[in-house]
Amino acid sequence: MSDSFPHGVTDAAIEALLDFYVEAGVDCTIADTPQDRFMQSAPPRRDAPAGERAPATQVAAAAREAAPRPSQRLSAGGPPAHEAAGDVARAARDRAQAAATLDELRAALASFDGCGLKATARNLVFADGNPQARVMFVGEAPGRDEDIQGLPFVGRSGQLLDRMLKAIGIERATGAYIANVVPWRPPGNRTPTPQEAAACHPFIERQIELCDPDILVCLGGPSAQALLGVREGILRTRGRWFPYHTGRREIRALATLHPAYLLRQPLQKRLAWQDFRALQKALAETAPTEAHSG
Ligand code: URA
Repeated sequence: MSDSFPHGVTDAAIEALLDFYVEAGVDCTIADTPQDRFMQSAPPRRDAPAGERAPATQVAAAAREAAPRPSQRLSAGGPPAHEAAGDVARAARDRAQAAATLDELRAALASFDGCGLKATARNLVFADGNPQARVMFVGEAPGRDEDIQGLPFVGRSGQLLDRMLKAIGIERATGAYIANVVPWRPPGNRTPTPQEAAACHPFIERQIELCDPDILVCLGGPSAQALLGVREGILRTRGRWFPYHTGRREIRALATLHPAYLLRQPLQKRLAWQDFRALQKALAETAPTEAHSG
């Protein structure tokens, strides 16, 4: 039992709580003492005697009422939300288009403040592998390990991806280029909001254009939805080929299951295996373009 914490709170309990916070994406502190923002933002009750507290449920409801909706938060104190969102989208497009190389694009993203995820992430997770590779893989967003290392697909799902690539004769470092639709880790690995995804969209589009692969592979539903515009679930779209315009030319794009899903549903690996065999065949059947033949 610790001397420093009252009420029977043990060091082990505190460690467990901190582990829980880290798992949930809370990995930095912003004040020495806890602040109850709900209490601070609750309007005073007109009928309550001075000093009387509103019940917690009322306080939370009032805070919810007063809080800006997600679409309003973008523009707190500034122009209306839709204008602010339009500004962010324009700034992202202009920056992405101005980048003439992948290095410039990485620098443009690193100095881009239009996506709130940057504030909570440790690192920008731009890409890994070989930009001259014939095939480019795009996932959804980095997880904890990727955030720590600043590289995509290096955690458990990345290790599975590496094994799947090896099985069709592709070495990750030389034969694949890997990126994500969103390059910063969402706290707690939650799904990026539509605003966060939209802010980053011009960058992944430009990254694909600059890489100009022969084949694009979307890993998981969110990637397929963002890049291929499909609305159906991934179990319906996986294994299908789509046309994709890189901005330079039309290429083939394949939607497949996300490795993280395969770790949770190992029986579905047989479907992913079919997709990877189809990818292998497509690569063997098409001659590499000049940019990728070296
Ligand atoms: N999942 C993703 O979508 N991307 C990563 O980089 C890691 C896990």
